[in-house]
Amino acid sequence: MLLDLMIKRRSVRKYSDRKIEAEKLELLKKAALLAPTSKNKQGWEFIFIENKDSLEKLSKVKSAGGTMVKDAALAVAIAVKSSDNDVWIEDGSIAASYILLMAEELGLGACWVQIRNRNNDEAGISAAQLTSELLSIPQDMEVLCLISIGYSAQEAKPTNSDNLKYNKIHCEKW
Ligand SMILES: Cc1cc2nc3c(=O)[nH]c(=O)nc-3n(C[C@H](O)[C@H](O)[C@H](O)COP(=O)(O)O)c2cc1C
Repeated sequence: MLLDLMIKRRSVRKYSDRKIEAEKLELLKKAALLAPTSKNKQGWEFIFIENKDSLEKLSKVKSAGGTMVKDAALAVAIAVKSSDNDVWIEDGSIAASYILLMAEELGLGACWVQIRNRNNDEAGISAAQLTSELLSIPQDMEVLCLISIGYSAQEAKPTNSDNLKYNKIHCEKW
């Protein structure tokens, strides 16, 4: 059941050296492309990166929160064309969520690595600009995030659904 998968999915930031099988890579691609978009624009692009040197460089595009990318077997960069799409962030975010859930379904660990609105303080430039340069992403595309993926090398406890914040749910009115 999808809910079981959602309960099990946690951010995984430690990965083993094991490569991701080609069939699993295909399923991750399929999941990304199945994500719904506003007006069915499908303005996103997904860059699948397995090259170790690129992963190492990507792990440094922002000052904090992305170091695990260097040990991942795969990073997926999500970039979306924003000029004709006022909801590009939503479109990209849904695709990211699909990838995260698919990774879980495939027995992989994954984590969202925020790029939009993040900086590399040392270089004094945005993480998005550095990512675009590294991956040759065209200038009219906005980089939203990376998803780091690999076989998990950590224990990630499922969410305890007894602790869900039901006070966040309102019926009829706030
Ligand atoms: C929009 C967004 C941005 C995030 N950015 C990062 C990040 O840059 N680095 C990181 O390690 N985790 C990042 N995360 C993962 C969150 O920290 C994580 O999902 C949250 O703490 C809940 O934990 P869980 O995913 O294990 O349930 C991000 C998650 C979201 C939804």
